[in-house]
Amino acid sequence: MADLSKTEKIISLCKRRGFIFNGSEIYGGLAGTYDYGPRGAELKKNIKDSWWQNFVQKRPDIYGVDAAILMNPRTWEASGHVAGFHDPLVEDAVTKKRYRADHLLEDNGVAGTDDMSVEQMDAKIKELDLKSPDGNPLGAVQQFNMMLSTQFGANQDTASKVYLRPETAQGIFTNYKNVLDSFHPKLPFGIAQIGKAFRNEITPRDFIFRQREFEQMEIQFFIHESDQKSAYAQWKADAWQWLESIGLSTSNMQWHDHTENERAHYAADAADIQYHFDFGFKELHGIHNRTDFDLSAHQNESGQKLEYFDQQSGERFIPYVIEASVGLDRTVLALLTEAYDEEDVEGDTRVVLRFEPHIAPVQMAVLPLMKKKGLDDKAKEVFEMLIKKGIRAEYDETGSIGKRYRRQDEIGTPQCITIDFDTLEDDTVTIRDRDTLEQERVKISDLKL
Ligand code: GAP
Repeated sequence: MADLSKTEKIISLCKRRGFIFNGSEIYGGLAGTYDYGPRGAELKKNIKDSWWQNFVQKRPDIYGVDAAILMNPRTWEASGHVAGFHDPLVEDAVTKKRYRADHLLEDNGVAGTDDMSVEQMDAKIKELDLKSPDGNPLGAVQQFNMMLSTQFGANQDTASKVYLRPETAQGIFTNYKNVLDSFHPKLPFGIAQIGKAFRNEITPRDFIFRQREFEQMEIQFFIHESDQKSAYAQWKADAWQWLESIGLSTSNMQWHDHTENERAHYAADAADIQYHFDFGFKELHGIHNRTDFDLSAHQNESGQKLEYFDQQSGERFIPYVIEASVGLDRTVLALLTEAYDEEDVEGDTRVVLRFEPHIAPVQMAVLPLMKKKGLDDKAKEVFEMLIKKGIRAEYDETGSIGKRYRRQDEIGTPQCITIDFDTLEDDTVTIRDRDTLEQERVKISDLKL
């Protein structure tokens, strides 16, 4: 294992322990898609629950929605995605294989591609006489629209093209009027959504970091134009604080302010929290000042009034929007990277995921010392009790106790509870701590996270 990169070790652990698999694996996979197994689905759910609780349930000023993935195509005309949601593409003149021009330049040691126009990338490729990874000449750099589409309707002749949403944000903008009409919130207020997004990435890569199907957790926070600066600063602080609360350390995070060329077509200001992945500091969470760009565009396209009326000032206006947007899959990868650890225990390598207890897929594993009548009944009783207390517990009786401990270490279970013959006498159990490996004897009734 020693010569594998950390990402390769994480990929191997994810497969071995049922976190993440290649999408459609039995057919050889489908590029840019991944499936979450039982451990990964649980981990992802815990992240979503933490985000939803922190930003929706705890906040009377934020409303949660769950909009359809397929939206009226006019949405994407209005939002500017049909005209402007592009990545720079360059093609191998012989094999016709396609590459991201900025990635190709970066792989050849060119820095600052975020800030380069398509023309500048093209000029740089020519200046350096770069070839494709197969050694062939490259065509001109072009813009490539990243939206995926499908056909809507059963009749092939009349079926119309609809897009798979490239961001969940637009399902929030199109529900702004519904929330306003049914809840009458006062400004500032936000609308939040968790859901799938799709992008026809030219080169999906770095495991679940860049996929063609992924999940986003997004908030559009509606404000008066005069509050742009303070709301932008507040959302930067809130986003950072939440990432810390789920277990990412400040030393592995940094801010990156977008230059003008780098900003999305809708953003007047943008900053990313980058995480120190195994392949460098890369975007995890974005904060954007989307101004009144989206609501104005939807008002024009739909003909519906999307203004807000401030009863106190008598002012009528289109609110400005600060957006907080974080990729769920990238958060999973950041947490796996942060949590992954190897240590030497009595000459053996112990692999352990050091997840925070509220994020770990399993919080307590209940292990009868051996498969024996009496012990397993008692262990099942303890398991039921923990489930009733709302603890994510797991019952495991297969294999030696040492092997079971290691299995639980590899999925990041903070505590293992062992039931032995003394338990039957005095209702006490042994708790083994994942991080310190210390063992402590406690009363069953005192078990808590
Ligand atoms: N609504 C704003 C928006 O979509 P973005 O920076 O394009 O902004 C937001 O995407 C977040 O979605 C990113 O910070 C990243 O975490 C995640 N994301 C974007 N593209 C992704 C991809 N291809 N695979 C996985 N996650 C992605």
